[in-house]
Amino acid sequence: TYVVTERCIRCKYTDCVDVCPVDCFREGPNFLVIDPEECIDCTLCVAECPVEAIYSEDDVPDDQKGYIALNAELAKQWKPIVERKDPLPDADHWARIKGKLGELKR
Ligand code: SF4
Ligand code: F3S
Repeated sequence: TYVVTERCIRCKYTDCVDVCPVDCFREGPNFLVIDPEECIDCTLCVAECPVEAIYSEDDVPDDQKGYIALNAELAKQWKPIVERKDPLPDADHWARIKGKLGELKR
């Protein structure tokens, strides 16, 4: 499966959503996740994300491994998003910030 990691938080550019053939993105207030039970590993979303937030499960950086379980957990709680929408306000500012896990809204 593929995994959305920290760079998405408070950005939510949503370019990834438009290309997913199985509509497996789920939307929270300021972050998206991928439902690991639906993702078919097509890889298309990876190149679409302007902040490179999406990784194959096997390639998630060591300091972001927690996002694998976080995607699975939140995918059960959040609703599908199937069309691109405007990024969050100040997305370009937050794209440069590291250590955003504390900013995540559920
Ligand atoms: Fe969707 Fe493909 Fe990305 Fe999985 S890898 S989330 S199927 S676009
Ligand atoms: Fe997030 Fe990148 Fe998609 S910022 S919403 S994973 S395009």
